[in-house]
Amino acid sequence: MHKGIALYPGSFDPPTNGHLDLIERGAKIFEELVVAILRNSEKSPMFSVAERLEMLRELTTDLKNVRIDTFDGLMVEYAKSLDATCILRGIRAISDYEYELQMALMNRKLEPALETVFMMPADKYSYVSSRLVREVAQVGGPVKGLVPDVVEQKLRQKLDPAYKLSESRMISVTRKAKKRKTKA
Ligand code: PNS
Repeated sequence: MHKGIALYPGSFDPPTNGHLDLIERGAKIFEELVVAILRNSEKSPMFSVAERLEMLRELTTDLKNVRIDTFDGLMVEYAKSLDATCILRGIRAISDYEYELQMALMNRKLEPALETVFMMPADKYSYVSSRLVREVAQVGGPVKGLVPDVVEQKLRQKLDPAYKLSESRMISVTRKAKKRKTKA
């Protein structure tokens, strides 16, 4: 096990099984792993930072050396504030490499003491990305097996009007039942 803190930064919008796979692998080789969600992204996210934080915390409760946090501004500055020695990033396919290489080299230029470590998620997740999960879910497609169950449920709550309707009906039924009880 590598002594010290590693930082796994990302958008995690939403967290996928590929992210979780990488977190589990990272937790096995680093003494402590901080998974951090970027707060000030220019992209308009599907899930708020608070929702992503909650999902990631729920997914990693059993991993005792994993901590979930958020960060703003330059990633290397945040890494320094943690005393992290490594940045962990996942590479699924060669198409990820160019972007990741550019980012790793820029981060090295900004902070030479910080090493970027790449790991590959399980090959069954090699095509899974948050963007594609959002795209499939937005048009009602199945995302089972691509994201953890808790994320699938959150996606359904967010996107399925029928789900929302049945939820609000449940709420109004419960409220009516409560009113009836208090009147009686
Ligand atoms: O999951 P993503 O969206 O590919 O993660 C990208 C992320 C958050 C790691 C990257 O955009 C980032 O570190 N942003 C913070 C600002 C920063 O330090 N930019 C310089 C990176 S070279």
